[in-house]
Amino acid sequence: MSLADWYKVEQLPWPTEWPTLFGRPAPLRVEIGFGNGLFLIRLAQTHPADNVLGIEISLPALRHAVRKVERAGLDNVRLLQGDAAAALHALCRPGYVAAVTINFPDPWPKKDHLGRRLIDDTFLHLLATRLPAGGALDIATDHDDYAEQITACLLRSPHFASRLDAPFVLTDPERVTTKYESVALAEGRTPRYYHWRRNDAPAEDVFPVPQELPMPHVVLRGPADLDEIGRRFRPGVVEIGATRIRTIEAYRSLRDGKLLIETYIGEEPIWQRLGLEIRARRSGELVVALAEVGFPRPTRGAHLAIHYIVEWLRAEFPAIVIVHSTLQVNHVDVTHERD
Ligand SMILES: C[S@@+](CC[C@H](N)C(=O)[O-])C[C@H]1O[C@@H](n2cnc3c(N)ncnc32)[C@H](O)[C@@H]1O
Repeated sequence: MSLADWYKVEQLPWPTEWPTLFGRPAPLRVEIGFGNGLFLIRLAQTHPADNVLGIEISLPALRHAVRKVERAGLDNVRLLQGDAAAALHALCRPGYVAAVTINFPDPWPKKDHLGRRLIDDTFLHLLATRLPAGGALDIATDHDDYAEQITACLLRSPHFASRLDAPFVLTDPERVTTKYESVALAEGRTPRYYHWRRNDAPAEDVFPVPQELPMPHVVLRGPADLDEIGRRFRPGVVEIGATRIRTIEAYRSLRDGKLLIETYIGEEPIWQRLGLEIRARRSGELVVALAEVGFPRPTRGAHLAIHYIVEWLRAEFPAIVIVHSTLQVNHVDVTHERD
């Protein structure tokens, strides 16, 4: 493993060909929220025949762990920066993940923040679609209220069964102690250790791997110039089905004058912050497309965002006509309130 061997959820193919990424086919074992990475390293050392994927949302934590994994000389580990739910949903085919470990997930103790907890009914359903029958699910927590939630969710899930005689145990001497576990033990809290497995009840896959469409662009002809378009731009928000599009600000290129519209596109499980560009051709035609800034993915939401800009332009400049379009969205109403 080298410093180059870590990835971002937004940049890997949907779904990802894990054997290609690891350089060999092998069962995929996942640790979510690996923190300082020591448990992950132990997992990889004790399962040399498996490909071990660590998913961590914190970039600083991930950078530290990369160095540790590198020093450990392991080549069956890959690290992924991003949200675990998004990673499982977008990158992993149903039934592909052999085992999942979650050690001391953030407890989000405040009442207002309970919705941010990783483990809930929806997340367990997602895990149920990604784990095959028999796939292991191991969880540890030292937080009483979160433990109650985890126990209740596991017990009511039709897709999991405990590998023990009880929902959890209070000691697990086999395991390497994680950083948060050490703190919990030093402060007198008792962790709960859950050792469950996926049963063979079918789980409806309501988490389809997102798809990419061809790159979207639209060519327009009409009496609008970029100066005037920039002047009329106002931030706006629109929700089209489950997709949320928010245009934030328009910027003008000093080099070629094109307009860049900073935009958020939210479509579960992916949030993209990207640029939509409007550029003028010598012929006077305008092209609306995704800007090559960052790593834009041509999702349905990206097509909808271009459609949204085009409809806004057509409303502002009624004489505009569409000359050519690669959009793969049927006409949808993008009437909305601009801020
Ligand atoms: C309380 S710490 C536990 C760290 C480590 N597992 C341990 O036991 O010492 C929770 C970790 O989960 C990570 N995390 C939180 N939400 C996450 C998510 N949605 N996806 C991936 N990692 C997440 C945090 O950045 C943090 O490193």
